Amino acid sequence: MTLVRFFRADGTLDKEVEAAAGQRLLDVAWAAREPLEGACEGVMACSTCHVIIDAEDFATLPAASEEEEDLLDLAAHATRTSRLACQVMLTDGMKSLNVRIPPEARNWMGR
Ligand code: FES
Repeated sequence: MTLVRFFRADGTLDKEVEAAAGQRLLDVAWAAREPLEGACEGVMACSTCHVIIDAEDFATLPAASEEEEDLLDLAAHATRTSRLACQVMLTDGMKSLNVRIPPEARNWMGR
């Protein structure tokens, strides 16, 4: 299990949830009722699942694909540790993952 901590844009902790290996970070966020839109539900046609990963945790993730990097170029407030939550899979070796929802995250789908 991975302990996923979701932080608000101002850096304060919002929620901590445990999630199993093999889950997508986007699904974990939705289950935790985080305001992360994910409009295309993971078919790489939006950047509304943009999250900022803690630098230490970011270093442990497999590299983003070229397609993901291209979409991140469209994301507001992207940083060097930005990822698309629909492309991040939890793995067995991942004990914790600290994730910040960027400012002005949209939640047009009511999630
Ligand atoms: S949900 Fe659209 S790219 Fe992740």
